[in-house]
Amino acid sequence: KRLILVGPPGSGKGTQSPIIKDEYCLCHLATGDMLRAAVAAKTPLGIKAKEAMDNGQLVSDDLVVGIIDDALKKPSCQKGFILDGFPRTVVQAEKLDEMLARRGVKVDKVLNFAIDDAILEERITGRWIHPSSGRSYHSKFAPPKVPGIDDVTGEPLIQRKDDTAAVLKSRLEAFHKQTEPVIDYYNKKNIVANLHAEKPPQEVTVEVQKVLV
Ligand code: AP5
Ligand code: ZN
Repeated sequence: KRLILVGPPGSGKGTQSPIIKDEYCLCHLATGDMLRAAVAAKTPLGIKAKEAMDNGQLVSDDLVVGIIDDALKKPSCQKGFILDGFPRTVVQAEKLDEMLARRGVKVDKVLNFAIDDAILEERITGRWIHPSSGRSYHSKFAPPKVPGIDDVTGEPLIQRKDDTAAVLKSRLEAFHKQTEPVIDYYNKKNIVANLHAEKPPQEVTVEVQKVLV
């Protein structure tokens, strides 16, 4: 299957991705994770992306389209993929259609993580991540066994630089202005499944599984 996960910051895309990935053996491409890795490694891409990311604004379409175009060439992505955080503008959605058309395939489903803005601040400010695996925890909703420590590796957890209430405001603004039109774009193709993303994680997983049967 070829899937797109779309939803505002903190709606649960990164939380559900590994579960979908394991169940369907798909490759998981998260542009936010790839960009954060590039920023940490100070690659030319990371240097260009850093300022926009720190301010909660979108990185330019050209940069992210380039990342996805490269990533889709990986052998592990040929049978299917989950795009998490891409496309985020209508231009990106159109470019994705072109890339897939060249490969003779198309998007099967768009999972829309629908949720009220009011819930997101608590989710975002309580999030802790394990940088190398991308595993995420929440101090209240999904706490690690030992605070600040990854359950699997015993390594320290960190908070994302853009996970503050102030930067969240810009990220939400970008979502409503630039990404909501992407949902309309796919609604016209009748491939959007709306999820109740405010429910507990396990219940969201059940909704995802129902959509993907
Ligand atoms: P990105 O990394 O994609 O961030 P985002 O879209 O803001 O999404 P998040 O990762 O914050 O949320 P999520 O939905 O994955 O939430 P999670 O599951 O972790 O992008 C970052 C930046 O990169 C952008 O601002 C932009 O600058 C740039 N960028 C990336 N892609 C781009 C693109 N295509 N074009 C241009 N620029 C791009 O959950 C959050 C927390 O809540 C966790 O702590 C989790 O444990 C908890 N939680 C999850 N689900 C539940 C639940 N059901 N109930 C209770 N708690 C829950
Ligand atoms: Zn995420």
